[in-house]
Amino acid sequence: MSLFVPNRNHGKLIIVEGIDGSGKSTQMLLLSRWLRSQGYAVAFSEWNSSPLVRQTTRRGKKKEMFTPTTFSLIHATDFADRSESYILPLLRAGAIVCADRYAFTAFARDVARGVSRRWVRNLYRFAIRPDLAFYFRVPLDVAIQRILGGRDAIKYYEAGMDLGLSRDVEESFRIFQGRILDEYEAMAEEMGFRVIDASLSIEEQQQQMRQIVNETIGEHLKAGVLRSPEGEVNGAASATAVL
Ligand SMILES: Nc1ncnc2c1ncn2[C@@H]1O[C@H](COP(=O)(O)OP(=O)(O)OP(=O)(O)O)[C@@H](O)[C@H]1O
Ligand SMILES: [Mg+2]
Repeated sequence: MSLFVPNRNHGKLIIVEGIDGSGKSTQMLLLSRWLRSQGYAVAFSEWNSSPLVRQTTRRGKKKEMFTPTTFSLIHATDFADRSESYILPLLRAGAIVCADRYAFTAFARDVARGVSRRWVRNLYRFAIRPDLAFYFRVPLDVAIQRILGGRDAIKYYEAGMDLGLSRDVEESFRIFQGRILDEYEAMAEEMGFRVIDASLSIEEQQQQMRQIVNETIGEHLKAGVLRSPEGEVNGAASATAVL
């Protein structure tokens, strides 16, 4: 990952990526709890959660006004706000920041929408390079089963309906997620993703993640990361939920 800005802070940045329903949030929640149980100060940042652009995003989605470029830019603004007002200060303070989706989501989704690969990568050049990037590799059908099993109707942009791939929402979702999956697969090696087989059980995946954390940044965590009696970091800008 030669894009991005190296993380020279005491705090560590761990991120999860993968298509919808690959199990990212489930695993990140378990990982952050495990880290917190060891006394580390852990914060959590979620894709598309900045209050700065919330109203515009809501309006644009409701009225189906976004083009691939404006949709990409609004996500980049969301990301920039969270990076500057939340993620970076917490890393400087020495916390572990767990991000549920990161710039790679834009690299996969926006490109699947037809935005230039080079343009979108350039847009996120300011992002801090993650210390650990997990990618949850899962067959499309498994992810779709999980999504359809546990959720309300798939939304317009989520299904990529803006691209006119199909009039059927489920079919459009399948084609769109397939394109996103192809993008993730194409960048996995280049970006140094730690690949997790997301068709395994929740427990097996979590075990692998913990092992990878210990092997890669375990020593850094012990040496330099902020500890918190409650294991929680509060007080930073309320841009993002703290678990
Ligand atoms: N290993 C697994 N085996 C079976 N079901 C799973 C597994 N991991 C997660 N699930 C279930 O699949 C669904 C989707 O999981 P989760 O919300 O963690 O995915 P996600 O990648 O965060 O999705 P999204 O991108 O839509 O936020 C949930 O109902 C979850 O309980
Ligand atoms: Mg999720």
